[in-house]
Amino acid sequence: MQEKEISVRVRVYDSVSELPQVEADLIKASIDALDKSYAPYSGFKVAAAALLQNGAVMSCANQENASYPVCVCAEVATLSACSAQYPGIPIVKLAITTKGNKPSSASPKAPCGQCRQTILEYEKRFNTNIEIIMRGENGQVYKVSSAKDLLPLYFSNTDL
Ligand code: THU
Repeated sequence: MQEKEISVRVRVYDSVSELPQVEADLIKASIDALDKSYAPYSGFKVAAAALLQNGAVMSCANQENASYPVCVCAEVATLSACSAQYPGIPIVKLAITTKGNKPSSASPKAPCGQCRQTILEYEKRFNTNIEIIMRGENGQVYKVSSAKDLLPLYFSNTDL
């Protein structure tokens, strides 16, 4: 038996002011996009803003449905919009902002499993990494270099 250790580097910032302007601007775009959230059931708003390689920014927010499994996450909506609007252009950075109504909502939130897999697919498709920037209501920010960092032992096209 062998043990394999997989380590991940997560950068933690106390405030957006510690980040480069391009990332602060992307976070601002994600905060603005919270207004596009439709979350009458959970009351939990999520918005994402993608910076593409051509400099374009695309943002979307979560869209819920009375039939709960039909809900669309902010990250998936954003990646789908990028793919439709800017086919062939890689995403460089993805900022995610959340807004809930509980004290536990305040810290930075990482994308759910389905969103991680969807971001990974975008990376694989363009053979690039997407930096993921998670901003909490408390102003704290977590940053990872790739969806792969959020998915140890990920499954992708090369496994088929
Ligand atoms: N949600 C997202 O938009 N992205 C995630 O990565 C996790 C969850 C949304 C789905 C639902 O509208 C609400 O947050 C509560 O789960």
